[in-house]
Amino acid sequence: MNLAVFVSGRGSNLNAILSNLELKNKVQVKVVISDKKKCGAFEIAAENSLPAYSVSEKNNQGYISFHDVTKLLVDLEVDLIVLAGFLKLIPDELIKTFKNRIINIHPALLPLFGGKGMYGMNVHKAVFESGMKISGATVHFVDEIFDNGKIITQRCVDISTVDSPEEIAQKVLSVEHQILPYVLGKFADKKIKLSDDRVLIEV
Ligand code: GRF
Repeated sequence: MNLAVFVSGRGSNLNAILSNLELKNKVQVKVVISDKKKCGAFEIAAENSLPAYSVSEKNNQGYISFHDVTKLLVDLEVDLIVLAGFLKLIPDELIKTFKNRIINIHPALLPLFGGKGMYGMNVHKAVFESGMKISGATVHFVDEIFDNGKIITQRCVDISTVDSPEEIAQKVLSVEHQILPYVLGKFADKKIKLSDDRVLIEV
């Protein structure tokens, strides 16, 4: 299964995909796309000899448009797009071209603590301030609205004893690194089934 991984930050989820031994024979990362010119994830791409492109709608030098990204991914025969900490909204053209073939990892238990502006530490601060005793990570399909598509899988972490949002982030990140490769393995095995309201993962 061919993947495109979209990133904006340090790229630890990209690294979790690339270093997962069970995925080695199942998935191939064909390209890394970022809305940034430089980010940790691009360094990981370079270390793994992966092509990487920066995307922008503003015609900035050194960036390509989402339209060109869409064409590129079709040319590369990408099967699934993985948003792994990508902060921009995905435009309609890309969503339509890759219908039900774009997934996102979100560092909270959706539908709580999602939507515009809910990314990175903003999420963990909101969870900390809410007083909730659990948080977690969600992998979900991507549609036109931030953090809105159908939930594929979630995993909880106990945050009843944490002292800071940073501590929540750390706990959540470690489950992100588990559930994203897990879901990708299931996609590669064609074990993810979409029904009207729910996503079923076959064992
Ligand atoms: C992760 O927490 C992801 O869930 C969120 O952004 C962070 C990206 O981390 N959307 P990394 O770049 O994969 O290290």
